[in-house]
Amino acid sequence: MQKLIAANWKMFKNSLEATETIQEFKNIIKKVPKKRDVVFFPSFIALEASVKAIDSFGNIFCGAQDVFPSKEGPYTGEISPEMILNTGASWVLVGHSERRHLLSEKEEFIAKKTIFSLFSGLNTILCVGETLHNRESGKLYDELNRQVSSALKGLPTPFDPRTLVVAYEPVWAIGTGKTAQNVDIIEAHTIIRDSLKDILGNGAAQIRILYGGSVKPENAGEILKLDNVDGLLVGGASLQAESFSKIVSA
Ligand code: PGA
Repeated sequence: MQKLIAANWKMFKNSLEATETIQEFKNIIKKVPKKRDVVFFPSFIALEASVKAIDSFGNIFCGAQDVFPSKEGPYTGEISPEMILNTGASWVLVGHSERRHLLSEKEEFIAKKTIFSLFSGLNTILCVGETLHNRESGKLYDELNRQVSSALKGLPTPFDPRTLVVAYEPVWAIGTGKTAQNVDIIEAHTIIRDSLKDILGNGAAQIRILYGGSVKPENAGEILKLDNVDGLLVGGASLQAESFSKIVSA
């Protein structure tokens, strides 16, 4: 399975900055290593420029950080899957913890976005993760299992499992400098794989599960070797081309 290394640029970088970082990344990396895919998630306004900057460079793709689950309509400030696809981007992030917590996105809405994106032909990364409080009160399994299964009701049939990716991002590890321990990552990824098996049977083995939360060049290689870790979702350390290229090559 190709490992997927994704850069979540959040609310950083205008079009010019995004273009420059992608150019610099391409110059440093020269060629994306075999068995690796790279996806950049710039802000909406930098999507089109980023697609142009990638310029069909092998195994580098572009995606949006969010989406609205409708073809079109009176949804001020929102953007549809078709609009995303129209820029040349082919991926989307759904359910990031910053949207769940800062913008109070509910699981029902995240489910609609996930399913609508998949139906629309976008490769979709569903982000899940527990808060420290959930973890400390023994609710890791319940939280992850519920977040995964609630988002994946009503998948398209036939369903290509390669179009769905799940990112495990413990809320307490995002942007905090605290990376989860290896045992914690393995435990969470096993829970997610098992939840996927309950929904998809054998197809679950083909769904990539990424780890995200304070990934850096120094810890990327070790995390990528863990069981059931099929890639990384990187925030802060993806903003500089040099550190992100080290992570992609780790
Ligand atoms: P971080 O963010 O790497 O800065 O912790 C990860 C994410 O939010 O996807």
